[in-house]
Amino acid sequence: MKKKIFRPIITIDGPAASGKGTIAKSVSKDFNLFYLETGIFYRLIGKFYLVSSNKRNIKKFLNSIRKESFLITKNDKQELYNEDVAEKASFLAKSKEVRSFVLTKQLEMLMHYPKEFNGVILEGRDCGTVIVPNADIKFFLTANLEIRAKRRHQQLIVKDKKIIYDDVLMDLKVRDYNDTTRKNSPLVKAKDAIEIDCSSKDIKETIIIVKKFILSKLPYFK
Ligand code: DC
Repeated sequence: MKKKIFRPIITIDGPAASGKGTIAKSVSKDFNLFYLETGIFYRLIGKFYLVSSNKRNIKKFLNSIRKESFLITKNDKQELYNEDVAEKASFLAKSKEVRSFVLTKQLEMLMHYPKEFNGVILEGRDCGTVIVPNADIKFFLTANLEIRAKRRHQQLIVKDKKIIYDDVLMDLKVRDYNDTTRKNSPLVKAKDAIEIDCSSKDIKETIIIVKKFILSKLPYFK
C-alpha cells in the first residue's frame, strides 16, 4: 500500500495591506509550498462583474463564468490589481452565493495542487476559519490602519505619482469595514491562530518570525 505523505497546510489571515501576500510568497519559495492567494478569486469575479449583463441575477452571473477562468496566470493577475476590480471584489465578497461558489473553487485547488510541493500556504481573510479550519499552522496578522495606509501609499506611488495618501487611507477603511462586518465569513482571528502585530515591525522582521515559527513546528523543512 502506498504511504500517504503528510503535506502541511499553513494559513495567513489579516486585513488588506498587512503584508500577508509578501510573507506568504517568501515562505512558499523557501519551503517549496504551493501558494494560494485566496483574494484573487474575488478579484476575478469582480472583474467579470464589471462587464456582466447579469448583475441582477447573481446565480446566473456566477454560472456564466467559465471554469478555465480560474486558472489564473501571472499575466492575468496584473489586470486584477486595480481599484475598480478591488472595490467590486470587496462588495461581492459579502454575498453568500459568491462566497460558497469561491469556496468550492478554493477547495478544488487545495485537493489538486501539484505533487512536487511540500505543502500549501494560503493567505486571505477566512483561510484559517472557513477554508481550512483544520490547518496545521495558522497566523493572523494585524497592523494599525494608518501604518498600513502609509505602506500601501509608498508602494502605489512608485507606479502612479498622483496617488493621494488620504484616498488610500479611506479605501483601506472601507475594505476593513466590509471585511470585518460582513455576515458571511467575516475577517476574525481563528482561536488557534498565532497573532502577529506588524505595526512596529518591518516586513523582513515579520518574515523571520513566521519562518522561525514554522521551523519550530516542522523542523524537517530546514
Ligand atoms: O487580498 P485581496 O485584497 O486581494 O482581496 C480582494 C477582496 O477579496 C477583498 O476585498 C477581501 C476579499 N477576500 C475575502 O473576502 N476572503 C478571502 N479569503 C480573501 C479575500
